[in-house]
Amino acid sequence: MDTTYEQRFSQNARRMRASEIRELLKLTQWPEVISFAGGLPNPAAFPTEELRGVIEHVMAEHAPDALQYGATEGHNKLRDAIARGMGIEHDTPQSIHNILITHGSQQALSLLSHVLLDPGDVVVTGAPSYLGALQTFRAFQAQIEGVALDESGMDVDLLEKKLRSLAEHKRLPKFIYLVPTFQNPSGVTIPLERRRRTYELLCEHDLLLIEDDPYGFLRYDGEKVPLFKSLDEQERVIYLSSFSKILAPGFRIAWMAAPESIVNKVCLAKQTQDLCSNTFAQYCIFEAMYHDILFPHIEQIIRIYRRKRDTMLAAMEQYLPDRARWNRPEGGLFVWVTLPPFINTLDMFAKAISNDVAYVAGQAFFPDGGGQNTMRLNFSHPSDEMIEEGVRRLANVIREEIEEKEKALEDELIGGF
Ligand SMILES: Cc1ncc(COP(=O)(O)O)c(C=O)c1O
Repeated sequence: MDTTYEQRFSQNARRMRASEIRELLKLTQWPEVISFAGGLPNPAAFPTEELRGVIEHVMAEHAPDALQYGATEGHNKLRDAIARGMGIEHDTPQSIHNILITHGSQQALSLLSHVLLDPGDVVVTGAPSYLGALQTFRAFQAQIEGVALDESGMDVDLLEKKLRSLAEHKRLPKFIYLVPTFQNPSGVTIPLERRRRTYELLCEHDLLLIEDDPYGFLRYDGEKVPLFKSLDEQERVIYLSSFSKILAPGFRIAWMAAPESIVNKVCLAKQTQDLCSNTFAQYCIFEAMYHDILFPHIEQIIRIYRRKRDTMLAAMEQYLPDRARWNRPEGGLFVWVTLPPFINTLDMFAKAISNDVAYVAGQAFFPDGGGQNTMRLNFSHPSDEMIEEGVRRLANVIREEIEEKEKALEDELIGGF
């Protein structure tokens, strides 16, 4: 056939483009590269033996149901355990009718976009924000409005201004999307007082919030902060969480806790995608909860990741030049680094790769530009030794780049005279 496939694609598919950053990330998979670029759990922290027992148990006791299609909403025992668990863990008990099981939170983001967004609708996100969410909202042709973060998450004064201005133009967002706890990519957490003010703004402007919380369980120090969902007296919060980071992402099982009418509509959208989430995986996860494997396992990964975070922070303290700044996340998987404003971390990436170290350039996470001098570093996946060596390599790259750029600026100034 001599026609190209391009012209056969739908308009929507034609708009899809591989992101430059995702392409660059392929380079980080070379074996000699120490990569801080991914966001993967550490395979050494998977409870392999315990899960082998669980899988054997599911096959021995539940095979006819576990190998069958299931309800679109999800396996009822798992939904019920999650509904009750949200009461115990987060003081926000749910009814089983508020819980929907999805194939990862990523699917939940796509399904919610499907049922909430029309082309041109506005969505407000953090700047920076989770790349997978930005890509999804873009795929549904949303207009994304970013609000800057500070060390306590989305700046609520800026959010207030943004909403006022959008309201004046009759362009209020369909929803606000936040990762309030140990945000991907910045690692920051919104404190309670700021959550309250943000929630008041939701009420004032009659808005929904998607609270995406895959990292909340991974707290290494500091006090737990109540969920937006637990402040929600007006059914405005759609809560998402996932077993990916606390058990194993290969199961692809996550959940949504939302007002029943949203669950019902999302369920219809899900029927067009996959009929139901992986039944076998849902049975396994329920058994892992029932046989008390999940929570002790979370305790264990917290110990491992806390040590890795501390190893990374200590190495950064030791090796990074004074002019680099970074935060100290109390949980999650990422540290956020800010370099002097004349450094562009995307331009610096080639130098990093040739020094066998990788990161994600921060600008990937900004919905509408910015963040050129920032980067995200992941500490969960590399081994402790690799973390130290990788930070040492990265420090050399940054130092060299700062020197080169400063020299170029100086030459430019002299040239200007
Ligand atoms: C903030 C956030 N939301 C959602 C996801 C998707 O997770 P999953 O689809 O594995 O549940 C991720 C994955 O890294 C994430 O960081």
